[in-house]
Amino acid sequence: MASPTPRVFPLIDERTLGQPMALTPGAGTGALAAGMLDTLQRPLRDLRISVTDRCNFRCSYCMPKEVFHKDYAYLPHSALLSFEEIIQLTRQFVALGVQKIRLTGGEPLLRKNIELLIEKLAALTTPDGKALDLTLTTNGSLLTKKARSLKDAGLQRLTVSLDGLDDAVFKAMNDVDFPVADVLNGIEAAQAVGLGPVKVNMVVKRGTNEQEIVPMARHFKGSGVILRYIEFMDVGATNGWRMDDVLPSGEVLERLRAEMPLVALRKGHPGDTAQRYGHADSQGQHDPSAGELGFISSVTQAFCGDCNRARLSTEGQLYLCLFAGQGHDLRSLLRSGASEEQLRDAIATVWGARTDRYSATRGMQPPDAGSTQRRVEMSYIGG
Ligand code: GTP
Ligand code: 5AD
Ligand code: SF4
Ligand code: SF4
Repeated sequence: MASPTPRVFPLIDERTLGQPMALTPGAGTGALAAGMLDTLQRPLRDLRISVTDRCNFRCSYCMPKEVFHKDYAYLPHSALLSFEEIIQLTRQFVALGVQKIRLTGGEPLLRKNIELLIEKLAALTTPDGKALDLTLTTNGSLLTKKARSLKDAGLQRLTVSLDGLDDAVFKAMNDVDFPVADVLNGIEAAQAVGLGPVKVNMVVKRGTNEQEIVPMARHFKGSGVILRYIEFMDVGATNGWRMDDVLPSGEVLERLRAEMPLVALRKGHPGDTAQRYGHADSQGQHDPSAGELGFISSVTQAFCGDCNRARLSTEGQLYLCLFAGQGHDLRSLLRSGASEEQLRDAIATVWGARTDRYSATRGMQPPDAGSTQRRVEMSYIGG
């Protein structure tokens, strides 16, 4: 029998690699306003806020046990942004055009009193008085218990990660023996309290959970859940990513089409990550009651062209790309007593200079460029 490919994990703390870039307070005029564009003409619309770097799962593609073991040094509490600080910063992002907020982690439901943060975020409005699109990505493990309180706090909808329906496959992927049934119960609880439409994210790894592609589509067809297939990405420095493990979305679609009729749907909003397909009826028309599927193909069909996402790490670093090696230190600026206008100008200046489009250029890099050693972990800045 061939021995398995050895996996080499760098013995480094990824957080210390790219020292955060210091931010100057900015002119403080607050004159830079909503509608600003980066160097590739992309507006700022979506803010993903990581509220903890901890998780109770150890998905091999995100927090492999070999690295995130029991002695791993998570951030100390003092490093985390407080809820008040998150709100102060979010207010400035919203003034600059952000319309959607996604809470992430790690596992965001592990952050103590997360409902209090949601309540405060739900009270914010855009400059023209509209409510924010307020959502969250969770592994679902605490959802049965928390769905009601999340809804009551003002959360609008959520996304649950689930990589298969077969217990053995799912347990091998979450690596903590967590059963499928508990996640499915969590999804039902979320739907029951009106946190819909619930989306389910399935990361597809060739040779690991590809046999779950069709069963997952069958299971969620007609359930109101939008299932999205995600190509395994080379994010971070620890997940042992290899192109051989990526099952391109085109192939996933082909396998599904061999089993069920699907029709392409129009893309949702500019900047959306997923290509949409609807379950079709016998006339080949989309049957809305049967629902839709999404494909997130960051490896084979990059979507950087209209990427409008900014990421705020657990300790208040602003990242302009999921694959960035360095963040911009908003926490220090905030804790130095900068005014609201100064914070806003600093964010606007950073966004205005943004050039990131990692996925679109991945194939063009020489083999050692964009080395995995200079990338932040997804558990630190969130999906
Ligand atoms: P909604 O459509 O508002 O529900 O959000 P979304 O499509 O952004 O979905 P979600 O936040 O659930 O992201 C889905 C997955 O897409 C993430 O878990 C990542 O795997 C991937 N993803 C999200 N944003 C980016 C991005 O900016 N770049 C890349 N390369 N992948 C991303
Ligand atoms: N590739 C693709 N998606 C990933 N996620 C985490 N790591 C990866 C990766 N390497 C996404 C999953 C999960 C969310 C929290 O992050 O979609 O649902
Ligand atoms: Fe935790 Fe989500 Fe990462 Fe899995 S993908 S380890 S559930 S943060
Ligand atoms: Fe946006 Fe970077 Fe993802 Fe491209 S790779 S879509 S720029 S976060």
